[in-house]
This record gives sequence, C-alpha cells and structure tokens, in this order.
Amino acid sequence: MLSPFPLGRPARMAVMASGRGTNLEALLEAFSPQNPWGEVVLVLSDNPEAYALKRASRRGVEAVAIPWRGRKAFEREALDLLRARGVDLVLLAGFMRLLSPGFVEPWYGRLLNIHPSLLPDYPGLHVHRRVLEAGERETGSTVHFVDQGMDTGPIVLQGRVPVLPGDTPETLERRVLFLEHRLYPRAVRLVLSGMAFPPGEGLKALLGEAWPRFQGLSPREKPLYLRAAVLLSVWGLGGHPALRQELSELPEEVRLKAEEVLRRVESSP
Ligand code: GAR
Repeated sequence: MLSPFPLGRPARMAVMASGRGTNLEALLEAFSPQNPWGEVVLVLSDNPEAYALKRASRRGVEAVAIPWRGRKAFEREALDLLRARGVDLVLLAGFMRLLSPGFVEPWYGRLLNIHPSLLPDYPGLHVHRRVLEAGERETGSTVHFVDQGMDTGPIVLQGRVPVLPGDTPETLERRVLFLEHRLYPRAVRLVLSGMAFPPGEGLKALLGEAWPRFQGLSPREKPLYLRAAVLLSVWGLGGHPALRQELSELPEEVRLKAEEVLRRVESSP
C-alpha cells in the first residue's frame, strides 16, 4: 500500500507543541470539527506552561501536559494517550524535543513536523540568525515526515519567502510564520488525501524502471515526482509502460517548468 490515507472517514489528529503554538492555532482553525478531512482531537505538550495548551482549551480541544521527566517516561505516556484517543496522524508544531526510534518507528508515515528553513539546509536551532549570517536571499519552511534524525525525513511540502534588506531574525521569523500557517494545513491535506507519503516498497513497484532515477533525485525534487506517480496510479495509468518510461525521462525543460510552477503554488499566500 502506498499510503495509509485516505481513511474514508475524517481523521483524528493530535498536535504536539512545546511553546506559544501559533502553528497549532492555524491547525485548529483549519481542522475544526465538521471538517471532512479530519479534526484535531488532542494537544500534547512536554511543557505545562506552554501557551499552546491554553489555545487548545479555549477551543474545547483536549489539552494534556506530560511534564518532561526524561524521554522514556514522556514517550510511554504519550504513546498510550495517542492510542487511547484513536489518533490517526500526529503533527509536531514547535515541539522542541527529539523523539526516539521507539516513538518514531510505529508512527512513521503518520508523524509530521514543520521546520522554519528550506531543508535539508539549516536543520536545528537559531535558523533565522544563521540564514541571515550566511547572506541567503531566500528562505522558507518545510513540512516533512519525521524519521530518526533531527529535522530529516522525506519532504511533503516546502514554501519560500524572500530575505529582504534590513531583515532581522525577528522580521524573518514573522514572514516565515505567516507562510507556515498556510503551509502546514496544506501539507496535512496532501497527506490525508494520500497524495504524499514516504517513498517505500509500494512506490518502488509502481515506478518500476523509473525507481533508480527517482532515488537519484534531490530531497526537494522527490515530492513532485511522487505526486505525479500517485496521480497516474489514481487515474489507472500507473502500470502503463509508456507513461512509466516518460516519468523516468522527463525532459529537463519540462521538469524545470513543472518545479517552478509547483514552487510558486506552494509559496503563494
Ligand atoms: C515554528 O516556526 C516551527 O517551524 C519551529 O518552531 C516554531 C514554533 O512556533 N519548529 C522547529 O524549529 C522544529 N525544529 P509556534 O509555537 O508559534 O508554532
């Protein structure tokens, strides 16, 4: 199976946040009850003081603090709660702890994170300061599946914003946050609709001879190819040898144009 989604019913989602929770707010707004894609049913924090918890309670969403007393204890409680609430998809939104393989593995493909840079560039902390120091002219944000690394894992969606003359880490942060509040719900919809998933055995079978070419793509190019492959399979054309061949040999100018369009769509307000 390519993706566990779509489920055929609204998904039950949990958000994990450590701090102020503006991304959480955007997700609560986008996935409120009655949304056919799904609803945020649980907010978890490692920090009992997190403003994110108040945002959830204000909207009547269950908000639970599991104070950090070490990774093992936190993860055991969190995993139990996710299971007890029948959660289908977990969204990290400003969750500032690294999760262990024991947490990540059972949730792989159903666990997303948002990071305020164009990954794989600038993983980790103090991103905006580092982007400015490096003299970048463009930055952005990335929603990705969580694997066992820090801010690694297959990319679902990226959005870009310019770095402007006179920017400070604070002005840049505001511009990136504005982007993130739109990007994260879009990425979640892609995952819930089955259009984005971590590449695995199912995709290998679908792509056939195009698989080695796909593996050679950069992390930023892969999501585009993945969505093209899913569309072909949804249209019943995935097994067609001629189309598979074309997918593996997309002419450079077509590929560049498609990527440019995708970039614009994904960064639009
Ligand atoms: C967001 O910019 C998010 O991308 C970042 O923390 C901020 C949380 O803001 N996450 C990371 O850096 C994870 N590596 P918020 O609490 O207002 O949503």
